[in-house]
Amino acid sequence: MTGRELFTEERSGEVVAASFADTPDPRLKQIMTSLVQHLHAFVKDVELTEEEWGFAIDFLTRTGHMSNEVRQEFILLSDVLGVSMLVETINHRTGGTSTESTVLGPFHMTESPVRELGDDINMDGKGIPCLVSGRVTGPDGEPLAGAVIDVWQTNEDGFYDVQQPDVQPPGNHRGLFTADEEGNYWFRSVVPRYYPIPDDGPVGQLLAATGRHPNRPAHLHFIVAAEGYRPVTTHVFVADSPYLDSDAVFGVKDSLIRDVPEVDDPDRAAEVGLENPFRTLTFDLSLLRADQAPPAAQPADAQPTVVRGAPS
Ligand code: BEZ
Ligand code: FE
Repeated sequence: MTGRELFTEERSGEVVAASFADTPDPRLKQIMTSLVQHLHAFVKDVELTEEEWGFAIDFLTRTGHMSNEVRQEFILLSDVLGVSMLVETINHRTGGTSTESTVLGPFHMTESPVRELGDDINMDGKGIPCLVSGRVTGPDGEPLAGAVIDVWQTNEDGFYDVQQPDVQPPGNHRGLFTADEEGNYWFRSVVPRYYPIPDDGPVGQLLAATGRHPNRPAHLHFIVAAEGYRPVTTHVFVADSPYLDSDAVFGVKDSLIRDVPEVDDPDRAAEVGLENPFRTLTFDLSLLRADQAPPAAQPADAQPTVVRGAPS
């Protein structure tokens, strides 16, 4: 018999990959060929049983049913498997020359209210007061006047406004700011708190079954954009937060962690409009120019392995 090779256990990956040989779009062909080969190698590696494959199909079906316009369980699955972070990191390499990115997360679902520099984004009056400030620059340190800074964070109880529409005012702990002539921004808020990702669905069951916790360390989300520069989607993490070394979605990068020191100075507190004492969080951001070539991937052996909390 001539023609196509028939399916065998040994060569299943190659046989199925060959079925995509005539795919007109070369990128789709590359993706499907690689996907099928890796998938078959995985099934062979673990010798998947029929019951396990049935369970997996049911798990994915439940994941789909849990998803709607306000809850995206598939993205959450991608988050806890570290795929969201990998895609984000591959597509926003910085080569160490600009602010690193991290996951967007599901809670940027509403437009942040436009605010003036210095405004307070804490609308529920709870939490430890904090002055957040920084400077937005380009790769040569040039100030990015007029950069737009979109921020959102949880309240003191670890919830975003959209998770508690009956408890929090809309726009609580969100703001859209415009940097001044020197690229500086500043606003008042509270120290963010760690919180669990939504864990009442299949992804939560996966975490529980594998002994993982659902928590994310305390952070403040940023999307920063300036004309002619590449926007960055990132967070700043609070240095003394629990879970920095076990973020449920692998979002922490060393370069994004900042101390949040206390200032005990009634005059300064009055000047910035916060209760004394208050904390300060300084987060400068550097953007790549839009016409800059993206830095290449570092070879795996060129990257230091940093184990957080390991003795040095
Ligand atoms: C967040 O930081 O808002 C987030 C990110 C990924 C999954 C869930 C929440
Ligand atoms: Fe978050």
